[in-house]
Amino acid sequence: ATYNIGYIVGSLAAGSINRTLSKALIKLAPECLSFNEISIKDLPLYNHDYDADYPQAGLDLKSAIEASDGLLIVSPEYNRSIPGALKNAIDWASRPWGTNSFARKPTGIIGASPGAIGTAVMQSNMRSVLSFLDAPQLNSPEGYITFKPGLFEANGTVNDQSTSDFLAHYMSEYGAFVQRVLDVTAEGHI
Ligand code: FNR
Repeated sequence: ATYNIGYIVGSLAAGSINRTLSKALIKLAPECLSFNEISIKDLPLYNHDYDADYPQAGLDLKSAIEASDGLLIVSPEYNRSIPGALKNAIDWASRPWGTNSFARKPTGIIGASPGAIGTAVMQSNMRSVLSFLDAPQLNSPEGYITFKPGLFEANGTVNDQSTSDFLAHYMSEYGAFVQRVLDVTAEGHI
């Protein structure tokens, strides 16, 4: 089977190292995974007044998530937490009440930072949010990537063998996790 993975880059920056990381992950992923970016850059700031007449940008975000077999979130850490643009997108996709698009979507969380702990605190925060939204998450391996100049080419080529091996392992485990979650769902047990 081929699984269609929607990926979200949590940075809007033109020179985002997390966008480069997403390119590396896609290059190194197993063949059973295909990738579509789910863009978050054109969403207004969410508030619940929108719920009565959801704007097209919010509906498009929700349908892109719902059409995906799995989600991959590749994000920076801002002030030890989730960047505002990404949190805003999560809030959009979680609403209107009763239509949470994340429910039961197998999700991977990974990120890069120049800092030594490589977005670990953002990921911990993200796990709380995604747990509340009932998204099963890849627990292991964890992907805390310390970005160093020259580690990646802009096209996502990884210049360091151990990093490349780790990212390939991450994606292979992620693919197996998506398959496990979908297989259990397809069995239809209550
Ligand atoms: C940062 N940065 C950062 N890094 C980190 O490891 N932990 C943090 O809490 C923060 N906080 C933070 C806040 C804000 C507002 C900015 C702009 C940056 C640094 C961050 O890791 C660095 O700018 C990365 O390049 C951001 O990722 P992208 O946008 O290049 O993908």
